[in-house]
Amino acid sequence: MPRFRAILDTMPPYKAGKAVVSADGRSYKLSSNETPYDPLPSVVEAIAEGARQINRYPDPAAVRLTESIAARFGVPPEHVALGAGSVTVAQQLFETIGEPGAEVIYAWRSFEAYPLLADLAGVTSVRVPLVEENHDLDAMAAAVTDRTRMIFVCNPNNPTGTSIRRAALEAFLDRVPSDVLVVLDEAYREYVRDADVPDGLELYRDRPNVCVLRTFSKAYGLAGLRVGYLVGHEPVASAVRKTIIPFAVNHLAQLAAVASLEAEAELLERVDTVVKERTRVREALIAQGWTVPPTEANFVWLRLGERTLDFAAACAVEGVAVRPFAGEGARISIGTPEANDAFLKAAADFRA
Ligand SMILES: Cc1ncc(COP(=O)(O)O)c(C=O)c1O
Repeated sequence: MPRFRAILDTMPPYKAGKAVVSADGRSYKLSSNETPYDPLPSVVEAIAEGARQINRYPDPAAVRLTESIAARFGVPPEHVALGAGSVTVAQQLFETIGEPGAEVIYAWRSFEAYPLLADLAGVTSVRVPLVEENHDLDAMAAAVTDRTRMIFVCNPNNPTGTSIRRAALEAFLDRVPSDVLVVLDEAYREYVRDADVPDGLELYRDRPNVCVLRTFSKAYGLAGLRVGYLVGHEPVASAVRKTIIPFAVNHLAQLAAVASLEAEAELLERVDTVVKERTRVREALIAQGWTVPPTEANFVWLRLGERTLDFAAACAVEGVAVRPFAGEGARISIGTPEANDAFLKAAADFRA
């Protein structure tokens, strides 16, 4: 019997969002925070064109995509590091700091990959409970020790949708020692409408220990192709670049991401539609009597406690897949108006 690392015995596997189908054949996947829209024709075209070249390895440095991202966000290309989805960039970040005894701090509950990546890297997780669904930045700053190497701040937070405002985040960053890397995970940045929620790309500029994680999976609609990136100062970005598995960002993903940046205006219009639906869904839930934290992401969060799995089952009857966290609550992505209506019906029936 081969001997595996002991951590694998205690590590729960990552649970991806599932699809469900109602008895009459309806299926609405609101469990993975994907965009409900089909890819843009221009993006499909770029992928189709690129398909003719896949006998060749992709550009390992992804020069064109790196330059497109740098130009779009007004940062030097040396500040950009890519990965096969931002979850892989997060894994690369763990590779850069993962040493026995190292600690990572993050709020809990937050993105469920953080504990898995920490375990895999042999880094000790220090989880700081949310307070009323929000990051407790004071407690997170107080949790820093001389073993702390990295802090994840998920803004807006997955799965609660809550976000941290400028003054609070700046005060927190000022408290973090300069040798601790702070990762602002902004997977849902494009959905933020509260002007007081800061853009990490502004905050990182004069803070060498702050970096930003972004993804093409959500607002840009490329979840299936796996491409995400980090923006950080040169030492951070180059450390992350060193940890990439060669050729991890495939050719089609590179082309599709460039095409998506070129079609950004169209994609962001769709984001606007989702944001309007988000408001409609949240207001309808509140009218039904639910407590729904304000959300700046493309999902809503319901704290259901022991009723969570029953709620998910009730949604499945309507063909709606949500993301339940047993004993805690459910996260429901914003989909098409039809999908959202199916969800709202399930939510209303559940309360009745
Ligand atoms: C907060 C957050 N960060 C990162 C990711 C990873 O996304 P991807 O690897 O598709 O870029 C997700 C996906 O759910 C997320 O919610």
